[in-house]
Amino acid sequence: MNLRQLLESRLIKAFAEAGATGAAALVAPAGRPEFGDYQANGVMAAAGKLKTNPRKFAEKVAAAADVSDLAEPLEVAGPGFINIRLKSNYLADRLAQMGADEHLGVEKPACLQRIVVDYSGPNLAKEMHVGHLRSTIIGDAIARVLEFLGHEVIRQNHVGDWGTQFGMLIAYMDREAAEGKDLSVDLADLEGFYQKAKRAFDSDSEFAATAREYVVKLQRGDEHCRRRWHEFLKQSLDHCEELYARLGVELTRNDVRGESAYNDDLPNIVDDLKAKRLLAESQGAQCVFLDEFKNKDGEALPVIVRKSDGGYLYATTDLAAMRYRAGVLKADQILYVTDSRQSLHFRQVFAVAKKAGFVPEGVSLEHVAFGMMLGPDGRPFKTREGGTVKLMALLDEAERRALELVSEKNPDLPEAQKREIAKAVGIGAIKYADLSQSRTSDYVFSWDKMLSLDGNTAPYMQYAYARIRSIFRRGGLSDEAAAGNIVISEPAERALAVKLLQFPETVEVAAAECTPHLLCNYLFELAGAFMGFYEGCPVLKSDEPLRASRLMLCRLTAGTVSTGLELLGIETPEQM
Ligand code: ARG
Repeated sequence: MNLRQLLESRLIKAFAEAGATGAAALVAPAGRPEFGDYQANGVMAAAGKLKTNPRKFAEKVAAAADVSDLAEPLEVAGPGFINIRLKSNYLADRLAQMGADEHLGVEKPACLQRIVVDYSGPNLAKEMHVGHLRSTIIGDAIARVLEFLGHEVIRQNHVGDWGTQFGMLIAYMDREAAEGKDLSVDLADLEGFYQKAKRAFDSDSEFAATAREYVVKLQRGDEHCRRRWHEFLKQSLDHCEELYARLGVELTRNDVRGESAYNDDLPNIVDDLKAKRLLAESQGAQCVFLDEFKNKDGEALPVIVRKSDGGYLYATTDLAAMRYRAGVLKADQILYVTDSRQSLHFRQVFAVAKKAGFVPEGVSLEHVAFGMMLGPDGRPFKTREGGTVKLMALLDEAERRALELVSEKNPDLPEAQKREIAKAVGIGAIKYADLSQSRTSDYVFSWDKMLSLDGNTAPYMQYAYARIRSIFRRGGLSDEAAAGNIVISEPAERALAVKLLQFPETVEVAAAECTPHLLCNYLFELAGAFMGFYEGCPVLKSDEPLRASRLMLCRLTAGTVSTGLELLGIETPEQM
């Protein structure tokens, strides 16, 4: 049990003994150090229900609580808060356990699940742009956190690899090839290729006719079209993978199961919906109408699964994918990491999938929605010319700016090392800036903010880590040198100890709620607690047993920071 849960369970017992059976104690980290380490906030509600004086009730709870093994006698404060101050030797014991555990005290949940995380999902017809950055970064962090807890995670990259655009692209590949152009060179600039094909499509009716013909041919399995299509997809996926590698995102070719993978199943989906009497025809299209979805005039909103021309839709493919994930992959839970503009789509397809029995009742479907990335003007992030920002260019700029920062901070480092560090700092800064925001809100992309060395940023966290490592370097010490018993005497040591012990509860909540920003906030507070400790408590210069104890606190902090950043997909260079 994590520390908060342990305290909660002890307090719940005390609440029951004081007459409030089943009441939540609402234990949370203390708002201020003078309130102790944790506080129980549940008194007011419980006393209200019992129609008794909160202060009196709190005193009863405090007297009844059995916490002497881990905390000082509980104190009642204000109108009825209960303050909990942990015993120093308890903190020390618990930290020793944390130090001996590679999971830093994070326990496996009682119920381990198989969880599909659907993220990134770029449209392969074009170059990946910033629109897919958030899904890629947030999805990857969530997958890492769930895996760290012990769940079995299946990553799914639901790429857009099907649709009318591909007829146009194949036709343009033919045209370029006929002119003797080297397609691999051509496709290296995916975005440019798409734009040229689009221009030809819009301006040349003969070309447009061929493109349309190719869509049909491709659907029928025509060999030439299929070959070109595969050739195109390969180039496009190579491009995505180059980005994933640079971003340190753990998606591989094996995780790709794009829209096209479900093609053959789409007619079955429509037939099955029909057999279940869920289908209705509306203006020639096959639709599912569900009572829970109405427009603002109270009219039923359809989920269209087949257009009047026989074409299938994004929703149909998602229904097939859901059935595959529940039925074949045997997922207990499926998470969809996309921007919040798709929220109606997901609510609808989730409801249809459950109603049609494509996904059993017990399988949870969740849209992990996020807001938009905005430019400094507060509008959707664009280039100065108003175009979409290419991810490659964005990452190049991040590394360039980070190199300036590193060179300024540490001019004497060898050039190659500076570049290595700049990579970790630049990419880390972009990822951290995104992950540290509460995901549902929009956020403003700002180079200066994300690369700042003070504030809740990647460089700050990485710098904190490097600083701790430098203590070991200066002392000529290996990690093993920090193996002593922990003794907690100073307030700054205790604040750091409590913060360290909050790692498990933070990771658990971040996993349950898919909120990586909680982990960022925690790491920021941990770094703050460390700075406070480091300023007030000499490490290398103090005498034993303090020296060994403080080195141990340093080691634990470094380990927690690097593990935490790793869960966010961010590297921690040894030096900065
Ligand atoms: N390709 C989609 C897009 O670019 C994202 C796919 C999300 N996943 C899904 N199963 N619909 O918006």
